[in-house]
Amino acid sequence: MSNDILTHAEQGVMTITLNRLERKNSITSAMYGAMADALAAAESDAGVRVVVLQGHETVFSAGNDIGDFLNQPPAAGMDMPVFRFLRGIATFPKPLVAAVSGPAVGVGTTMLMHCDLVYAGDNAAFSMPFVNLGLCPEAASSLLVPQMLGYHRAAEALLLGEPFMAEAALEVGLVNRVVPPTEANGVARAAALKLAAKPLSSLIETKRLMKKGQEQRVLQQMDDEAKSFSRMLGEPAAKEAFGAFMEKRKPDFSKC
Ligand code: COA
Repeated sequence: MSNDILTHAEQGVMTITLNRLERKNSITSAMYGAMADALAAAESDAGVRVVVLQGHETVFSAGNDIGDFLNQPPAAGMDMPVFRFLRGIATFPKPLVAAVSGPAVGVGTTMLMHCDLVYAGDNAAFSMPFVNLGLCPEAASSLLVPQMLGYHRAAEALLLGEPFMAEAALEVGLVNRVVPPTEANGVARAAALKLAAKPLSSLIETKRLMKKGQEQRVLQQMDDEAKSFSRMLGEPAAKEAFGAFMEKRKPDFSKC
């Protein structure tokens, strides 16, 4: 059993930790599967009232594992672990809290759009460089980022693929609070314990009402994005981008 995803449940809080530091917590298919399974277990276990997603104080996640993109490309319409995980966080009925420090690339940022509370270390750097990889957004971020940031700031993040730091994320409402990186996981846990002491039925109903009307749209957008994303993975721009990453050189998109 790999230790790339750690789960631990205590005092009504399940903590899911990305633990693949040597690869900057980039996420493999097996890790998506483990996180999807953990969310499903947390949903059905009456003893779990809140879930915390966290990384390390130096890095939250470098996004999808790039080798995996090439070896096991996500195919739209298939029940692949990445889609199970994305649907899992988008429809998770209990509160989800995230602690993010260091780089949060690609899905490392887009998964946060589905969390209820997000605490960031002041070193957090959010980026969604899908265009720079010859790809398009995922996790319904093409819907949720414009809603959250406003269209023009969303274009900066999604078209230019420019990173933004914790303070900017706080300003646009992507994160709730910025704290020293060594404190982010602890602050998230404290918030989760506060939530765990509240009536679960009220938490679930309140979250359902806040998201009502949006869930189907989010799932539809994820499906649309997945179709484009799967197709684009096999096209020249993505091949050039991934080849460049592997060869540690700048990509040349002049022909894409
Ligand atoms: N997939 C696979 N391996 C990855 C990875 C990813 N997404 N991100 C980092 N790694 C690997 C690196 O190749 C490197 O491996 P090596 O030691 O064999 O050379 C190792 O993890 C350390 O990464 P490095 O880039 O040296 O760390 P850094 O601290 O300088 O930078 C990041 C950290 C996250 C900013 C940088 O690794 C990065 O930009 N990664 C790619 C992110 C990305 O494009 N993800 C896809 C999003 S859809």
